[in-house]
Amino acid sequence: MPAFPYKLCGPPGQPRFPGRETMGFSTRQIHAGVTPDPVTGAILPPIYQSTTYVQESVDQYLAKGYSYSRSGNPTVRALEQRLADLEGGHDATCFGTGMAAINAVYLAFLNAGDHVICSDVVYGGTYRLSTKVYARFGVEFSFVDTSDAANVAKAIRPNTRLILTESPANPTMKLTDLAAVSAIARQHGIPHAVDNTFLTPYYQRPLELGADLVIHSTTKYFDGHNATVGGAVVARTAEQHEKVRFIMNATGTIMSPQVAFYTLQGCKTLSVRMERQSASAMAIAKFLEGHPKVATVRYPGLPSFPQHELAKRQASGFGAMLWFDVRGGVAAGKKLMDTIKVWTLAENLGSVESLITHPVTMTHGAVEPAERARVGITDGLVRLSVGLEDVEDLIGALDTALAGV
Ligand SMILES: Cc1ncc(COP(=O)(O)O)c(C=O)c1O
Repeated sequence: MPAFPYKLCGPPGQPRFPGRETMGFSTRQIHAGVTPDPVTGAILPPIYQSTTYVQESVDQYLAKGYSYSRSGNPTVRALEQRLADLEGGHDATCFGTGMAAINAVYLAFLNAGDHVICSDVVYGGTYRLSTKVYARFGVEFSFVDTSDAANVAKAIRPNTRLILTESPANPTMKLTDLAAVSAIARQHGIPHAVDNTFLTPYYQRPLELGADLVIHSTTKYFDGHNATVGGAVVARTAEQHEKVRFIMNATGTIMSPQVAFYTLQGCKTLSVRMERQSASAMAIAKFLEGHPKVATVRYPGLPSFPQHELAKRQASGFGAMLWFDVRGGVAAGKKLMDTIKVWTLAENLGSVESLITHPVTMTHGAVEPAERARVGITDGLVRLSVGLEDVEDLIGALDTALAGV
């Protein structure tokens, strides 16, 4: 039987990119998980479009590391190795979407009757999955203001089995003190999962701050080009990783090799995009803060941001997401979003295209009005995802649109 020509990287748990400890982030975002194909010399990893993989013999089931593409695919595996490397985890598992990644964490760590402490501000889909799906199966949720770690300690019950935080949170940008919450979680033996979608490991590495699991919607900054949807879970330990990977195989919520290929390409420019997009976000936040038609601006990089000191302490950058409220209320905000140029009115974030979003009717429509009001997602909140266009054009477009409201 012919030998399988080339293996991008090993099965789960095999050593990753050698020398990662001594190489910088930008080097690893390009090279981790991938080596040139020894057969063809191709620099980019092939898209391994194959359902199944030949076995050496009946006894050597996993001789090449792969058996069937629901259990693992070489192109997807390359991305998993890269994400694990960048977050500094034991290993990673990719999924078809960010929501599938969150779902896998729930399925891996929860049983009926268990209790979850979740940040009170999270992506609307996370709230929907929790309250509309898992609640039906007897899982209890406390949506807690995790900006104060003491609230997390107070909310712990005998049946608490997971703490899920999102920081910065979508859309209000509220931060969780990840080290403080991780310390409380560890004291009680409860895994702490962090949705790190907004900052990426380039700016924030929750595992280094003591968390157990990192969740990503790779749809956002890892892809970076509005081309795919995908998700990932990076685990601190082999045991946690195996639990998540078991769910991937059991439920079949896998990432496709094409999506992994695109995401591997997106990864290569992550640090450069993050730096430029964050610099533009800072300039835009300052412009909006001084604008007479703007009531409130929230960007972690502004000294006026309520948790600015925490933002500086636990992350090495502030990211490219911000929000503002227009004077004149909801009508003015809607008019601005309907008339603005350059910025695209669309769901999603983290891409090179700058996007403008109305969370109440778009990303957080699944959150009940009373709950939105309780956690500060106001009807007039306008969310910006700053892309890579010239910042003068982005500010100019905002200026023109604000003049018209
Ligand atoms: C913070 C955060 N987590 C998770 C998700 C879900 O990701 P996906 O849309 O890839 O399922 C989103 C989507 O916007 C998000 O903003």
